[in-house]
Amino acid sequence: MRLQNKVALITGGAQGIGLATAKRFAKEGAKIILWDWDASGQEVVDQLKIKGSQALFKKISVTDEAAVNDGVAEALKHFGRIDILINNAGITRDRTLLKMTSREWDEVISVNLTGVFNCTKAVAPVMKEQNYGRIVSASSNVAIRGNFGQTNYVATKTGIIGMTKVWAMELGRYGITVNCIAPGFIKTAMTDAMPEAVRKQSIAHIPVGHWGVPDDIANGYLYLASDEAAFVSGICLTIDGGAAR
Ligand SMILES: NC(=O)c1ccc[n+]([C@@H]2O[C@H](COP(=O)([O-])OP(=O)(O)OC[C@H]3O[C@@H](n4cnc5c(N)ncnc54)[C@H](O)[C@@H]3O)[C@@H](O)[C@H]2O)c1
Repeated sequence: MRLQNKVALITGGAQGIGLATAKRFAKEGAKIILWDWDASGQEVVDQLKIKGSQALFKKISVTDEAAVNDGVAEALKHFGRIDILINNAGITRDRTLLKMTSREWDEVISVNLTGVFNCTKAVAPVMKEQNYGRIVSASSNVAIRGNFGQTNYVATKTGIIGMTKVWAMELGRYGITVNCIAPGFIKTAMTDAMPEAVRKQSIAHIPVGHWGVPDDIANGYLYLASDEAAFVSGICLTIDGGAAR
C-alpha cells in the first residue's frame, strides 16, 4: 500500500474529487481527516470506517482561520501527526467581468485562496516538526489557459500555482514537498452546474475526446502525496486529457 499509516487531511472531501481522494487514500492505507463545510462529510467518514479505515470528520469552513487551527489541534490529538495535506476545497461563482459583483469576487478568493493559505499555514509547522510532509493543492487548467466568465476563479487557481512554488522553496528544507494539480473538465457537481452548451463544446477541445472522472485527479493526488514523489516539488501537474495549451 502506497500510503500505509500516513495521516492525510483532505479538505472539501464530502463529494466530487475530494470524496474520490478520501476513498483512494484509505484503500492505500492512509488514516483520513476529512473536512468539509457540508455535514454530509460525516457519512463519507462513516463509510470509510465500515470498510476498516481510521477516519475523522470535522464540519469546517477553510475560510475560518480559528476553526482551521482548532481542527488541526483536534486532528493531532486524534492521530498524533499529519503527513499529507490535500487543499482540495474550492468553489465557483462564474460571471463575466462586466457583471461580476465584489461579493462574488470575495467569496471565491476567500475559499479558494485564503482557505488554502489558512490550511497550509496551520499544517506546515506540524510537518516541520515531523521533518516530513506532502502538500498538494487544487489549481485548474484554466490557470494556464484562462476561461470566459471566471475572473475570480482563474485568479485563485493561478495564485495557487504561485504559492506552491514559494512554499516549495520555503519548506523543502524541512522535508516537505509542495505541489499542485491542474485538472481539466472532471465530472462533478461543480461542472454539472455549467451551462449545457459549454459542456458540449468543451469536448471538442479535449484531445482524448472525453471528460475526466474524479478518480483521474485522486490518482494524481496519490502520486504527489506518496513517497514515490519524494523528489518532486514546486510543480503543477496538469491532468486534463491534453486540453491545456
Ligand atoms: N471538477 C472540475 O472540473 C475541476 C476542474 C479544475 C479544478 N477543480 C478543483 O478541484 C477541487 C474539487 O472540485 P470538485 O469538482 O470536486 O468540486 P465539488 O463542488 O464537487 O466539491 C467541492 C467540495 O468542497 C466543499 N467546500 C466548498 N467550500 C468549502 C469551504 N469553504 N470549506 C470546506 N469545504 C468546502 C464542498 O462542500 C464540496 O464538498 C476544487 O478546488 C476545484 O476548483 C475542479
